[in-house]
Amino acid sequence: MERTFAIIKPDAVERNITGKILEKIESNGFHIVGLKKVHITLEQAMGFYYVHKDRPFYTELCTYMARSPIVVLVLEKEGAIAEWRKLMGATNPADADPGTIRKEFGLSLGENSVHGSDSPESAAFEIPYFFAMCELI
Ligand code: RTP
Ligand code: MG
Repeated sequence: MERTFAIIKPDAVERNITGKILEKIESNGFHIVGLKKVHITLEQAMGFYYVHKDRPFYTELCTYMARSPIVVLVLEKEGAIAEWRKLMGATNPADADPGTIRKEFGLSLGENSVHGSDSPESAAFEIPYFFAMCELI
C-alpha cells in the first residue's frame, strides 16, 4: 500500500473547510495514517519548498504557507501518490476538472487549498519532514 503526503493549506483552514476536504479524502478511499494541525515558520516553509527555491513565486508561496495554520496528512491507498494528485486537480483551480478539490474549493493559482507529493521521491522527503515514524498509524 502506497503512502503520500498531503497538506490542507492556509486558505482552506482559514475558511473552516478542513472537514469538507477530509470528507472527500475518506470517501475516495484514502486511509488517514497521520494527521495534525501545525503553524509552520517561514523558515520551515522555505525548507519544505526548497525544490522551488529558484522559481519566481518561491517567496510568495512560503509566506502564504506560514501565514496561518495548516493540516498535514499522510494518506494511504493503492497508487496513493497519483490518486491524490488526481483528486486534488490541476495546480490552477481554473484549469481543474469538475469534482476535484481545487475546482471546488481553490481560490487562485497560489491559494489552491491542497498540496500533494508529486513522486515517490518527494513523498519520501515530505512525510518525515512533518511526521515521526511513531505518529503514523
Ligand atoms: P503542490 O506542490 O502545492 O502540491 O502544487 P503543484 O505540485 O500542483 O504545483 P507546484 O508547481 O509544485 O507549485 C507549488 C505551489 O506553488 C504555488 N504556485 N504559485 N504564483 C504562481 O505562479 C504559482 N505557481 C505555483 C501554488 O500554491 C502551488 O500549489
Ligand atoms: Mg508540487
